[in-house]
Amino acid sequence: MRKKIVAANWKMNLNLEEGKSLVDGILAGLPALTETKQVVIAPPFVHLAQTAQQLQGKANITLAAQNCYSEASGAYTGEISASMVKSVGAGNVIIGHSERREYFKESDALLAKKTSQALENGLRVIFCCGEPLEIRDADTQNEFVEAQIKAGLFHLTAEELKNVVIAYEPIWAIGTGRTASSQQAQDMHAHIRNVVAAQYGKEVADDTSILYGGSCKPSNAAELFSCPDVDGGLIGGASLKADEFLGIINAMMSC
Ligand code: 13P
Repeated sequence: MRKKIVAANWKMNLNLEEGKSLVDGILAGLPALTETKQVVIAPPFVHLAQTAQQLQGKANITLAAQNCYSEASGAYTGEISASMVKSVGAGNVIIGHSERREYFKESDALLAKKTSQALENGLRVIFCCGEPLEIRDADTQNEFVEAQIKAGLFHLTAEELKNVVIAYEPIWAIGTGRTASSQQAQDMHAHIRNVVAAQYGKEVADDTSILYGGSCKPSNAAELFSCPDVDGGLIGGASLKADEFLGIINAMMSC
């Protein structure tokens, strides 16, 4: 059965102390999670060891890095490898966030390598896709996102794809307060699932969790997560306050 997941992406926010109290606040109000209703926290790299300690022994709430490098090790000053991420106690990594694609010029080919590197090191990948506003305005978002999925993921085997969660984040909805309507989200998620099914079969596609991201908040989460192909959310701004993030987690619990 496919999992519903609410994942926090802190992006480049919070110092160590602030991160610690945020996680304490989340843990204090956390409902009883299950194998099929999970929470993921993706803080900046320097938080990972501390957050791993805080999450130790807690079921179905796991840690993610926001990025990792495409090579196993070596002379890549400033980079962090997938095996380092794994060794600090994180089980997941976000790959291909639109901010990485846009500001750091991460190409489809690089993201395909990063995805493989992460999977080889036993990490679950949260693979991001999503179109900019001009593509949405031209009504070519389906083709755009399909190309991102094919280029980033289709070199994987069906077995490998089981450890991939897809996050659809329309760039025009990120941090803008402008959420995709639940119909827009559902339409794209259904399209992504069809694209996965065409390559890997219906069974694999039905087991793949597809998260929505972009101005998701407690007030709109339940409607979004009730869509048949929306399996939870990747949350930016609203994941930085315990009560807001818990509101979104509770929305998942009720769907
Ligand atoms: P916001 O929730 O702040 O719009 O960010 C979404 C996002 O980019 C999560 O990765």
